[in-house]
Amino acid sequence: MPQLWQGRSSKTVDSRVNDFNSSIRFDARMIEQDIRGSMVHSAMLGKQGIIAPQDVDDIHKGLQSILEDLHSGALEIDPAAEDVHTFVEQTLTARVGDAGKRLHTGRSRNDQVALDIRLYLRDAAARLTGQITELIAVLCDQAEQGAGYVMPGYTHLQRAQPVSFGHHLMAYAWMLLRDKGRLQDAVQRMDAECPLGSGALAGTTYGLDRFYTAEKLGFAAPCANSIDGVSDRDFCIELCSAIATCMMHLSRLSEEIILWCSWEFKFVELDDAFTTGSSIMPQKKNPDVTELIRGKTGRVYGDLNTLLVMMKGLPLAYDKDMQEDKEAIFDAVDTLALCLRTITPMLATMTPLPENMRRAAAKGFINATDCADYLTKKGMPFRDAYKCTGTMVAACLRAGKTLEELTLEEFKQYSDLFEQDVYDAIDLTHCCQGRSSYGGPTKESVLYQISAVKEKLAQDR
Ligand code: ARG
Repeated sequence: MPQLWQGRSSKTVDSRVNDFNSSIRFDARMIEQDIRGSMVHSAMLGKQGIIAPQDVDDIHKGLQSILEDLHSGALEIDPAAEDVHTFVEQTLTARVGDAGKRLHTGRSRNDQVALDIRLYLRDAAARLTGQITELIAVLCDQAEQGAGYVMPGYTHLQRAQPVSFGHHLMAYAWMLLRDKGRLQDAVQRMDAECPLGSGALAGTTYGLDRFYTAEKLGFAAPCANSIDGVSDRDFCIELCSAIATCMMHLSRLSEEIILWCSWEFKFVELDDAFTTGSSIMPQKKNPDVTELIRGKTGRVYGDLNTLLVMMKGLPLAYDKDMQEDKEAIFDAVDTLALCLRTITPMLATMTPLPENMRRAAAKGFINATDCADYLTKKGMPFRDAYKCTGTMVAACLRAGKTLEELTLEEFKQYSDLFEQDVYDAIDLTHCCQGRSSYGGPTKESVLYQISAVKEKLAQDR
């Protein structure tokens, strides 16, 4: 196919430059959006009397036939085409003649591509939010089951205070809910302003109705500045940033699962269908899925960095550098979709091992704060109670005991305030259930969180 833009040039372009310039490899996926934009643009041209009704009809029939042939497989996208916009226009012209040549009236590929990416990302983001919703639902199910499983909560990866498995999992549900909100925010801003009709950068001399095209394409309004319309890629950056944040959350969850299914923890067992073996060590069951998610997070950060660095030095308006936006943002979208697709069923089939969680909770003195709180509630100033409990922990460590293994006489050696009820106060279930402040790890709090999260998910529908 010859270039559409062979305007002033007398030479054919070197084939190496053509290959270098071509974006069809990665922008072909926007073909439906490109056709949709062209349908609306041509309808507007007809409505404004810029092209004849017959041309509009021919263009629409031609575009429709392209769409059908693509779906049936009768038409294949030419890998030698320069880009998706060129491919559609040239195929259309081959099918309907002059009407096809009138399609690009009052339009540039600069506003066309800015539109197509938005339309594509709008749908892609909706698919991602749907996938995130599914993952949140699975987390809620696991959290409901594990609402009463006591496990050690950690700071600095050191056993710190008792929490429930359900509470720990719900922390991720809240993160993912924010991720969903961030994606929706990005889409809302993306849908606010339609770039179509900005032309190459300076608008056009034709009497376009930009409000009509904006509305038909689902935007709140046309963008008010044509230069901004063609040069803006904030929407790619915002979406990519939301995706990178979500990947960061999935990566943290993955890291925990990797720890939890190690022999050192054994808090969970992954289903065999979601683990892999070793070619040499027959005993191995590896959490490859989670490791890959952790690994792929880096590449999505790379995508975000690509976009930010690509844009930072560009003079207004369009520059060819901006063609690099698509590979980066599409990779980010694809990677998150792939990770969500795998982690969700993996979590749904994961078996928690509450006895092991409890055993780990019984070691490590995670009820030491509760012991200090016990003394504080009996009248000792907290700082003194803290010191006293610290001394007890040190003595227990020397004796190879836990706090609950001390006899009442031994307790009393540290303070007269200790009575029989100390055993209740430092009992692990009691410690977890006693943390009844709002947002705490009790069973009731976990169940409340689940219903609150589900309510927020329902509001979105
Ligand atoms: N393939 C190009 C891109 O993705 C389309 C816009 C081309 N515009 C231009 N003035 N060369 O950015």
